[in-house]
Amino acid sequence: MGSELAVNRVSPGIPLEDDPDDFVGYELLIDFIKKRALHQLEGDIIEIGAYMGRGTAKLARFARRYGKKVYAIDVFDPGLDKTLSVSGIKAGDVYEAFLQGRSMLAAYQESTRAFDNIVTIREDSRKVSFPAERRFMFGFIDGCHQQEYVENDFYVIWPHLVSGGVLGLHDYRFDDWPEVTKAAHKLMHAHKREISAAYEIEGKYNILSLLLVKK
Ligand SMILES: C[S@@+](CC[C@H](N)C(=O)[O-])C[C@H]1O[C@@H](n2cnc3c(N)ncnc32)[C@H](O)[C@@H]1O
Repeated sequence: MGSELAVNRVSPGIPLEDDPDDFVGYELLIDFIKKRALHQLEGDIIEIGAYMGRGTAKLARFARRYGKKVYAIDVFDPGLDKTLSVSGIKAGDVYEAFLQGRSMLAAYQESTRAFDNIVTIREDSRKVSFPAERRFMFGFIDGCHQQEYVENDFYVIWPHLVSGGVLGLHDYRFDDWPEVTKAAHKLMHAHKREISAAYEIEGKYNILSLLLVKK
């Protein structure tokens, strides 16, 4: 099923930093936020799937300048994610491999310890909800790549996203995780009247993220 919304390619306007523990290229997201002046909107930033916290720290450094917080959700236990990729590799095994023996939580704490504007939520994203008054101007989803989780994570954020705010989905187009693409198309179709524009941007490992602007 197509999304019926045109998805326009954004060319990454800046080079990617050489940071092996950032698996997205968060500076591209921050550049997108800056160019659209999302920091002038009401609300904070939220990330689902913080992993080693390299992106969390980059988002927090940016958010701090505007008196904003970053809410970071993760279970911080690589063994919990048993999702199988198309090539038959378990997500948790990939997380373990890149950790190279480090504890995920310890790596996250090390990356983020300089920031007092991060709210860490150590929880399965299916169990997370926010009070109605919570507002986000930017959200990024990179947690469990199963369709039902991607959909869950969308609904954790979308009702709290302000008008003009942006919700990003990592792995929108990446052969290993086709369920993310399926979920994205379903969500774009279901919410097409609430979306003013959709973009895709290429980050690390040639993986495309989807960025949805809320009307
Ligand atoms: C691909 S990694 C995130 C990488 C991170 N965005 C980065 O680039 O550094 C996915 C993360 O989602 C987390 N995760 C998986 N399932 C989750 C769930 N149900 N709830 C919360 N976090 C989850 C994993 O622990 C892992 O840290």
